[in-house]
Amino acid sequence: TPIQAPVLDSCGVATNLNNNKELDINCCPPTTDRIVDYRVPPVFQMKMRPSAHRVSPEYIFKYNMAIDRMKRLPKDDPRNFFQQANIHCAYCNGAYKQQEGQDGPDPSKFLQVHNSWLFFPFHRWYLYFYERILGKLINDPTFALPFWNWDNPKGMTIPPMFLDERSALYDKKRNKDSMPPAVVDLGLTDIKDPLQLVTNNLTIMYNEMIRGNSDVYGFMGKAYSQGDAPDRGPGSVERGSHTSVHWWVGDPNQPTREDLGNFYSAGRDPLFYCHHANVDRMWTLWQYFIPSNKVPYKRITETDFLNASFLFYDENAQLVRVTVQDCLDNLRMGYEFERIDLPWLDYRP
Ligand code: C2O
Repeated sequence: TPIQAPVLDSCGVATNLNNNKELDINCCPPTTDRIVDYRVPPVFQMKMRPSAHRVSPEYIFKYNMAIDRMKRLPKDDPRNFFQQANIHCAYCNGAYKQQEGQDGPDPSKFLQVHNSWLFFPFHRWYLYFYERILGKLINDPTFALPFWNWDNPKGMTIPPMFLDERSALYDKKRNKDSMPPAVVDLGLTDIKDPLQLVTNNLTIMYNEMIRGNSDVYGFMGKAYSQGDAPDRGPGSVERGSHTSVHWWVGDPNQPTREDLGNFYSAGRDPLFYCHHANVDRMWTLWQYFIPSNKVPYKRITETDFLNASFLFYDENAQLVRVTVQDCLDNLRMGYEFERIDLPWLDYRP
């Protein structure tokens, strides 16, 4: 049986997984009786997600305005910035119990969207609605999130638009040592020499995208079905570059590495969504742009994967149920990524 969308009424206390203590914040969403099965609307105009280091001042202005409006929505509006951040907390910090069919939920097994094949699909849907909400708030249905191009030497620093303290894109809970010109450390190696870091990062990307995946689960993450204990095993990108970026930006002077370095708080930093847009891009690149001679098949066909479902509030604050099978193709979902070259493609170590 696939992992079922959680029952919002049963949302409970969440745990800070960095110190295993109960969290004193409530990260459960508003509840409602009306759940609609989501249908991806027909695509009239493809959205183009831009590389965050290359966007125009006009783009930054719009993005900032959208996030600012999101922060100003009523606190209990599910589209509010902090409600959106709490989605990550609820799905990742054990607030939801897994549903167990007729016998009801098994409290010993909480729902975890990391460290398994749910990682890419969950975060894709999360960003999808986040992007639509932002677009709606600025009346621009073509608005697309930027991606932090940390796999390319030109994008290996925190994108400048997130650094302006007066901007809605700013977050003060970040590692001071990771501010530009510091080069991102995708292997958490503590290498200080920027050129060596770049080389090491490209090698890591090559390994995660091409070399380290003997089968589809090596990239996507291990199977995770109803009744399984969480944390089956992450795929290569989730385990590697993805987690490193979280840790590298999270503030070591906060009690538990807030914001980006902790599941419950990660979504409070606008940079989270930009980081994850690149993670999402890695999935697309792996699916469509990487020669498949290394990985014999790139599709997971088990129904436990395809029929797994999640709940999100859409841009109209309607609660919707979405499935993994409806998010496997980003073009069908109405967005693509700016084409940037992939220097790691031939970075065989
Ligand atoms: Cu849900 Cu990057 O973590």
